[in-house]
Amino acid sequence: MYVTLKEVLSQADKLNMAVGAFNTHNLEMLPAIIKGAEKQKTPVIIQTSCGTANYVGHRNLVAVCKSMADEYGVDVVLHLDHAKDFGEIRKAILAGYSSVMFDGSSLPFKENILGTQQVVNFAKEYGVSVEAELGTVGGTEDGIVVTQDEVFYTDPEDAVRFVEATGIDALAVAIGTNHGQYKSKTEISFEQLEKIQQAVDVPLVIHGGTGVKDEDVKRVIDLGIRKFNVGTELLVGWNKKSKDCYGANKENVSNRDNVMPCLDAIQAIVERKIQLFKNLDN
Ligand code: 13P
Repeated sequence: MYVTLKEVLSQADKLNMAVGAFNTHNLEMLPAIIKGAEKQKTPVIIQTSCGTANYVGHRNLVAVCKSMADEYGVDVVLHLDHAKDFGEIRKAILAGYSSVMFDGSSLPFKENILGTQQVVNFAKEYGVSVEAELGTVGGTEDGIVVTQDEVFYTDPEDAVRFVEATGIDALAVAIGTNHGQYKSKTEISFEQLEKIQQAVDVPLVIHGGTGVKDEDVKRVIDLGIRKFNVGTELLVGWNKKSKDCYGANKENVSNRDNVMPCLDAIQAIVERKIQLFKNLDN
């Protein structure tokens, strides 16, 4: 079924697992992600930046997610990732996205609350879930760079005030992860995550999932992470395979011969990640 973020995160909470949230950058990648979730028998969150949504077309993304959710019997959420502009959020909701993220993390605390409240008020009218962020995740995403000097962890007391004031469905936390980190791995502050988990009763979201060590996945899930974002690993997998194929194949072959191996690479990554996110050892 085509479902909301709130629904899948509440199921995940009952099973002490996380749901994979995979960034697609085009329409081709999307079916491979849903097929991976179908093989692993878990719900899945497809997420797009505003850039991808405008490139592919919001309604096209909604239509494919809905039809595949139905055809493959998978619970699919379509989520707008890191939107800073209310106009972009409104556009996605009106087109049928079932979840949005308002990213006011670079704003002063009170302005982040006000911006998030505006989005929650609008989204609730349409039954759409809302994720928001407190603290700063480092690294690079969709061309936006956050340097290590600008990074600050989510403060647990602020998190309590933020969640109470906004009524969000999920909170993205800054605990040391970085967007776009794929050549090295992250040192996560488990202490900070534990303090946040003890302070608030809302599903937590980890960004920069590509840089998280496999052996840390269980630990963060046990500390309340319910949505696990992965983007760069898919991009790198696609681009590497794509370079090989376009380099090796003749220029007059069907485009499928270059694209289908990339889809297999995406599905393999998605399935491997989901196996970790199921947190089976408990
Ligand atoms: P990575 O690209 O580092 O995996 O992060 C994805 C993400 O957090 C999307 O918001």
